[in-house]
Amino acid sequence: MAFDEIRSAVAKLQCDIANGPVVPIVTPQEIRRYLTSRYDFTKPVALDDVVADVEQMLRTWQVQVTHPRYFGLFNPSVTLAAIVADTLVAMYNPQLATWRTSPAANEIERHTLGWLTGKFGLPADAFANFTNGGAESNLSAVIVALTRAFPDYGEGGLRQLAASPTIYVTDEAHHGFQKIAHMTGIGRRALRRVATDGYLKMDLGDLARRVAEDRRNGYAPFMVVGTAGTTAAGVIDPLPDLAHFCRSEDLWFHVDAAWGGAAIVSPRLRGHLAGIDAADSITCDAHKWFSVPMGAGMFFCRHPDAVGDAFRAETSFMPGKTGLVLDPYTTSVQWSRRFIGLKLFLALAEHGESGYIEMIEHQAQMGDVLRKSLQRAGWRVVNTTPLPLVCFTRDGLDTTKFLAALYERQIAWMSEVRLGDSDPVVRACITSFRTTESDIDWVVGKLSPIA
Ligand SMILES: Cc1ncc(COP(=O)(O)O)c(C=O)c1O
Repeated sequence: MAFDEIRSAVAKLQCDIANGPVVPIVTPQEIRRYLTSRYDFTKPVALDDVVADVEQMLRTWQVQVTHPRYFGLFNPSVTLAAIVADTLVAMYNPQLATWRTSPAANEIERHTLGWLTGKFGLPADAFANFTNGGAESNLSAVIVALTRAFPDYGEGGLRQLAASPTIYVTDEAHHGFQKIAHMTGIGRRALRRVATDGYLKMDLGDLARRVAEDRRNGYAPFMVVGTAGTTAAGVIDPLPDLAHFCRSEDLWFHVDAAWGGAAIVSPRLRGHLAGIDAADSITCDAHKWFSVPMGAGMFFCRHPDAVGDAFRAETSFMPGKTGLVLDPYTTSVQWSRRFIGLKLFLALAEHGESGYIEMIEHQAQMGDVLRKSLQRAGWRVVNTTPLPLVCFTRDGLDTTKFLAALYERQIAWMSEVRLGDSDPVVRACITSFRTTESDIDWVVGKLSPIA
């Protein structure tokens, strides 16, 4: 297949986006009126016309997350290889539920995940699969950990258990764990909020106290979640200490590295993830810092048997088993499976590890530039992280008004966040490998006049 047309279309789009607005100004009514007036689906419309119209809507009515001045919530700029991959997947529509239906696709995923398994320092026989995203990976981790800790959970459900299971997180952990606690039936109250230290990292002393207290009170602690790159502030929990504690207390150690996990490929950054190799399970999203389109999460687990136990399923209608190879529908939350992993495979193959190191370290460096530039301009940076995420404020700042002015003037997309008990602060994360020093200089220069 010749990619020249896709390549030039993508290059033109990137250029148009970079020179256009970052934030849409539109109401739901406006879009609904537009759709209702054009699409009642009673008559066919030429595909060229619909595509042109949809592109126009996406250009106009969307936060442009691939804009170099989108400093947002981990939605990356995407590589050409990853775009081509998603196009190929849609064309062939492989079904990855069983190995037999899609041998090539299943093996490409396995090969790609094997590479990252090794980078994380997990054993070669660790389990890994692609998921829709970090939320599904975290859900998988909780289900597998419950299955391993409580052999009666799978067949008899929670009511068979002698004690209520509890999970230990901090307030900085991803809030998807609340839904996971709800969905798995352990209940939202089973999430224990461990205190954080002055850097918003999990406090080991408080963790130990809470686990001991819960055991005394008849609960059944089973899992600790350490985050490697919290959503709000990019904080990395003390992974080696958590690993040690979990080992000594016989608790499942899950590392949610949805965003920060990609730092493992960078010689400059990987030291900050020390301890991740001791995890029982890891969440890492390719659709964050690996710069591929959504949705592409990854779930890694040291205990393949527990994964098989958690997601086992028997049917007569699926193609038969293939010897030693496991069918993904029996090892994951999903049944029908899209070929999620091709975008990471193709991008990795095209750019190589060195290309990824460059992309990731460039963004980390842009984070440092942003941090220093804000400080020079008189802003107070309130978070500490090696990752490119800067939370900042200044005395008397009304963040809501500030962000409204930022959007209205199309300066950049940033967001508001509360760290601990603090007043809201502004959160700016470098998520594009295309963000340059001059983008940052330009943005920081425009901030003070609107503050
Ligand atoms: C630390 C962390 N974990 C999990 C998630 C959820 O991931 P996803 O949105 O891919 O489901 C996020 C999302 O930003 C995250 O930052």
